[in-house]
Amino acid sequence: MEVHKEGYTITTDKSKIDTNYVHRFLSTTYWAEGIPLQVVEQSINGSLCFVVLYGEKQIGFARVITDEATFAYLADVFIGEDFRHKGLAKWLVQTILNYPSLQGLRRFMLATKDAHALYAQAGFTSLPIPERWMQLHFPDVYKNKSGT
Ligand SMILES: CC(C)(COP(=O)(O)OP(=O)(O)OC[C@H]1O[C@@H](n2cnc3c(N)ncnc32)[C@H](O)[C@@H]1OP(=O)(O)O)[C@@H](O)C(=O)NCCC(=O)NCCS
Repeated sequence: MEVHKEGYTITTDKSKIDTNYVHRFLSTTYWAEGIPLQVVEQSINGSLCFVVLYGEKQIGFARVITDEATFAYLADVFIGEDFRHKGLAKWLVQTILNYPSLQGLRRFMLATKDAHALYAQAGFTSLPIPERWMQLHFPDVYKNKSGT
């Protein structure tokens, strides 16, 4: 899948991913600080990835962890700082939601600290009954790793 707009492209072609760029960005985020390169590579291998390009250069990313039948989880959404506030994240989220193998799912989830409005525009809501949900959470899992 590939869509184009004003010099920008969103593609699911994994050969377009600049893994070092994705790693550099993610390793400084609040949700994946210190993530090792090898873990980023593994996560890309196991996900449906959406790459945002300006020309041939990667400037954004998102990945969906999914069985492509019943459930999906949206993760690692970002747009490079120089390209923000142009509507690219909104276009990215909409492109993901329109993706053929992500239609008819029973649930599409994500977690965010402060970008709720971005996802609310696409129809996401808070969990209506949070006490029905449980998790195993290991926030320190990347600490004391090499970070390479
Ligand atoms: C969040 C992020 C992807 C938005 O990218 P962007 O291309 O600048 O976003 P857009 O231009 O498409 O606009 C996003 C919309 O969501 C809104 N929004 C809500 N929370 C936001 C947030 N934390 N950051 C940016 N926009 C936010 C904006 O106001 C905008 O709505 P509007 O056009 O009605 O004003 C980008 O700021 C980013 O990469 N941030 C760092 C990584 C991150 O936090 N990712 C999200 C993890 S859940």
